[in-house]
Amino acid sequence: MDRFIIEGGKKLKGSVRVSGSKNAALPIISAAILGSGKTVIHNIPNVKDIRTLVKILEYMGASVRFSNNTMEIDPSGIDRFTAPYEFVSTMRGSICLLGPLLAKYREAKFSMPGGCVIGTRPIDLHIKGLKKLGVDITIEEGYIVGKARKLKGTTVFLGGNFGSSVLATANVMSAAALAEGETIIEFASCEPEIVDLARFLKKMGAKIYGEGSHCIRIEGVKKLNGVEYSIIPDRIEAGTYVLAGCITSSAITIENFIPSHLLSFLDKIEETGIPFKTGTDFLKINNITSRWKPVDIVTLPYPGFPTDLQAQMTAFLTLADGISTVTEKVFPERFIHIGELNRLGANITLDGPKAIIKGVNKLIGAKTMASDLRASAAIVLAALAAEGETEVSRIYHLDRGYEKFEEKLNGLGANIRRIR
Ligand code: EPZ
Repeated sequence: MDRFIIEGGKKLKGSVRVSGSKNAALPIISAAILGSGKTVIHNIPNVKDIRTLVKILEYMGASVRFSNNTMEIDPSGIDRFTAPYEFVSTMRGSICLLGPLLAKYREAKFSMPGGCVIGTRPIDLHIKGLKKLGVDITIEEGYIVGKARKLKGTTVFLGGNFGSSVLATANVMSAAALAEGETIIEFASCEPEIVDLARFLKKMGAKIYGEGSHCIRIEGVKKLNGVEYSIIPDRIEAGTYVLAGCITSSAITIENFIPSHLLSFLDKIEETGIPFKTGTDFLKINNITSRWKPVDIVTLPYPGFPTDLQAQMTAFLTLADGISTVTEKVFPERFIHIGELNRLGANITLDGPKAIIKGVNKLIGAKTMASDLRASAAIVLAALAAEGETEVSRIYHLDRGYEKFEEKLNGLGANIRRIR
């Protein structure tokens, strides 16, 4: 199993280019099966989760070609509407195939995704939304079994105990695109990834209004076409590199991302006193001459502070000049990184869904273990700032969602070795 050996305490310099968004690519690649013809999608990150989705599409009979961040998908051969446990258990995001499968083929058998280290992760909102559109859904032996004679538009309220759901919105919006009549999704997710999916579907011929707001209206159409499309940059990857620069007090530039997709995050970076400037598609960190200030963070659905940057932000705040708090309101149990950061000399305690971070003067390298995608990125950021050597094992978690992570960081002057 691969692991990283990281020599910390180095300043970074230069610029890094952000890849396409994993969380926009997954629902868009899934929605491509709705088209009656080939679809070509550009700017897709070459990461494990994307390759797993390709395996599921091929298992269903689609033909997929993926190279140089461009994917060509031909759904005409799809004749099996099942996603087996072996695939789904390794990649929950594959659930966003459910809506498109039911809308186009009127049947689907999907392994229940189950929980993961960041929480129980129920799919009740997905099932509720699709049932509202007329799908008959049962759970049999750990599988979601869905059948529909036809899908019929209606009003669906998609608010849950933790607010809106990104992939439930994606599933219902994709399915409603081919349903009969009008669908209104109330309490829809407003994430940039949902807006990107709506734009993709509209290019295929869908009639969608209000994406980016909590109320999305869809007028169903009979047919959608194959198209050519390019995915938005990955705002979470971008935020991770911003924090790599901040935690090492380095004046670096992050290119090819849309700062307006990260306003709540950048607002908090500003509050810590880190000097930076943004343009339409870049962010430049200026010289950091003093220790940064502590802040209080509460994660929320977009446009609130993204939960997918919570762990990385927590790592950054371990070296702040004072006490910060981080409250996780989207995945209240998402704190598995705390133990590993404390191994590196951080001083973090947990009080339910709130982490209390007492800033320390320095971190010291140690042996650590990755557990999930964003927690792993947080450990690597802390290791970059730590004195001495850090070992990070189980980095397959990182490979799921970061394209060329260590190459990009080494390109900025970090010293990360991958041991196979
Ligand atoms: C998406 O997951 C992202 N994944 C996650 O990123 C991200 O953390 C999450 O949105 C929130 O921003 C992808 O896009 C592939 P949710 P999703 O449904 O859609 C509860 C990463 O690191 N809920 O918006 O699965 C749920 O338990 C990943 O890239 C229900 O209660 O998340 C959570 O508390 C990790 N019932 C909250 O809603 C449901 O049916 C938000 O989850 C669905 C969700």
